[in-house]
Amino acid sequence: MTQPARPPPVRRLLVIGIGAGDPALMTMQAAEAVAALDVVLLVDKGEHGQDLADVRQEILRRHGRRPPARSIELRDGTRDPALAYDEAVARWHGERVVAFERALRDEVADGETAGILVWGDPSLYDSTLRIVDQVVERGNVDVQHTVIPGVSSLQLLAARHRIPLNRIGRAVHITTGRLLRQGLPPGVDDAVVMLDAAVSFTTLVGEGFEIFWGASLGTPDELLVAGPLDDVADQIVALRAQARARLGWVFDIYLLRRLERA
Ligand SMILES: C[S@@+](CC[C@H](N)C(=O)[O-])C[C@H]1O[C@@H](n2cnc3c(N)ncnc32)[C@H](O)[C@@H]1O
Repeated sequence: MTQPARPPPVRRLLVIGIGAGDPALMTMQAAEAVAALDVVLLVDKGEHGQDLADVRQEILRRHGRRPPARSIELRDGTRDPALAYDEAVARWHGERVVAFERALRDEVADGETAGILVWGDPSLYDSTLRIVDQVVERGNVDVQHTVIPGVSSLQLLAARHRIPLNRIGRAVHITTGRLLRQGLPPGVDDAVVMLDAAVSFTTLVGEGFEIFWGASLGTPDELLVAGPLDDVADQIVALRAQARARLGWVFDIYLLRRLERA
C-alpha cells in the first residue's frame, strides 16, 4: 500500500513586532510567538545596537521558553558611504539576504520555528520583510513566514502626545528626515518624520507649522515637546543634542502639522 505523500517539512519564521521601546508594549500575540521559538535570529546593529539588544534580551527573558531558544547572531553589514545611496542600500541588503539564508539553512532544522524580533512594527522603515521575501524568492531554503504586528513609534508618538495623527478626513504623510530636506510635497499639511539624524524640521521654521516631537519613547529617557515650530525648534535641537551626548545616540520622531491660517 502506498503511503500518502507528506508535504516536505519546512522551517517556520516568525517576524515579530516587539513595540518601539518598552517591553510592556508587546502584544499577547507577540509574546505567544516568542514563547514558540526554537531559534532567535539576532541582528547586530552596530552603534546603538546595545540598547536595542538589551530590550530584546529582556523580552526573551520575560516571554521566551525554558530552556532558552538558541540565539544566532547575524552581523549587520554597513552602508558604504562611498557609493550612491540606492546602490549602497541594495548591496547592504544583499549581504543580509545571504546571512539570513545561511542562518535559516544551517542553524534551523526542518520543522523548527525561528523568529526575528523587529523594533516597533515590521511594516515601517524596516527591511526585514524585504529581505525575507528575497530569501523566499531565491528558493535555496524552504521557509514559511508569518508577520506579527507590533506597536510602532508612530503610534507611541500619538499616544504620548494624546493626539490623533490625522485631522478629520485628512491625510498624513510619512517620511524621513532626508526627504523632508527636499521640502514637503505640494498639498501635504501633516507629516510624520522618522529617521532624522539632522533635525530637518529646522528647515521649516517660519513656514507656519506646529510640531509634536518625541525621543526615546517608551524608555526611561523619553522626551516630549509640542508647540508652534517657531517657538520650540531651538529647545528641541538643544534637548536632542543633550540626549545624544548623554546616551551616545537618540531615536526621535515627530508630527509636523501646518497651522490653519486665521
Ligand atoms: C529603522 S526605523 C524603525 C521604525 C520601527 N519599525 C517602528 O515601527 O517604529 C527607526 C526610526 O523609528 C523611530 N523610532 C523608533 N523607535 C523610537 C522610539 N522609541 N522613540 C522615538 N522614535 C523612535 C525613529 O524615527 C527612528 O529613527
